[in-house]
Amino acid sequence: MSVILNIKVKILSRKEVASNIYLMRLKAPEIAQNTLPGQFIHIKCSKGNYPLLRRPLSIHRIDKGKGEIYTLFQVMGEGTILLAQREVGDDLDIMGPIGNGFSIYPESRKIMIVGGGIGVAPLLALAEESIAQGKEVRVLIGALKKELVIGEESFKLLGAKVDIATDDGSYKYKGLVTDLLKRTIKENWLADQIFACGPKSMLRKINEIALRVNINCQVSLEERMACGIGACLGCVCKIKTKDKKEDKVKYEYKRVCVDGPVFEGSEVVWDD
Ligand SMILES: Cc1cc2nc3c(=O)[nH]c(=O)nc-3n(C[C@H](O)[C@H](O)[C@H](O)COP(=O)(O)OP(=O)(O)OC[C@H]3O[C@@H](n4cnc5c(N)ncnc54)[C@H](O)[C@@H]3O)c2cc1C
Ligand code: FES
Repeated sequence: MSVILNIKVKILSRKEVASNIYLMRLKAPEIAQNTLPGQFIHIKCSKGNYPLLRRPLSIHRIDKGKGEIYTLFQVMGEGTILLAQREVGDDLDIMGPIGNGFSIYPESRKIMIVGGGIGVAPLLALAEESIAQGKEVRVLIGALKKELVIGEESFKLLGAKVDIATDDGSYKYKGLVTDLLKRTIKENWLADQIFACGPKSMLRKINEIALRVNINCQVSLEERMACGIGACLGCVCKIKTKDKKEDKVKYEYKRVCVDGPVFEGSEVVWDD
């Protein structure tokens, strides 16, 4: 695990890219150099002490050359409302990079990336890294309706093939992104790995599909976080592991902040 820094970084730009969705670019060379796709930063949203708790946001893009990182966030409540009001030139107090990130296997040739709603946030950096490693990348984006489709152009600009599913059929495939995934598999486009981020129900379904066709599946989980650095145990999730000595399944609680947020889909206990 990389060292978690607590630093002040400058806001270089902040733009509302869709209704209530903001893209923020930060000058953070120390973090850009040491970040893996899938890791996140823990942000003090306001200049004052309220709200007390930081808010976790994935690292959306990493520009090592310029020493910059991006976040893409949806305004949800008091923390993100305040964050969206921060000005260009402000210093932002952040901790990071945190967590384990996605693991791209060297032998993988085809990568499938599935994002639901704002779940696309950590997946752009992953697509960029996969393409840089010479992998063929397909991206499936799911949203309720056309206006809520996020990231299509950004993934295309990287060279990924992008398909979209909207629940109401207002844009491209009508239905769930998981149905689109099934269709892609039926058409014989079999990935070596599937990476996904989005609502838990979507992740659970993707894991079931991946298990059926025996494809490695990694999911980025979200839990409400307090400390964000592994100390408070406020973000635990139940994980299955195998006791090799006794050859039986064991269960343990892992912290989404530092043991995740990325887990093997097959290890997550989805019923909890
Ligand atoms: C590892 C990690 C990475 C994340 N990356 C991103 C990202 O890149 N972009 C992004 O927009 N959001 C991301 N989130 C979710 C984001 O942290 C929350 O939306 C944010 O903390 C909400 O804070 P708030 O003060 O605005 O809202 P609050 O007032 O705290 O909550 C408003 C609503 O959001 C829900 N909520 C709050 N926190 C979470 C959470 N962690 N997971 C699910 N629902 C939550 C609450 O239940 C409530 O309904 C991430 C979460 C985690 C754990
Ligand atoms: S948020 Fe405190 S242990 Fe994860």
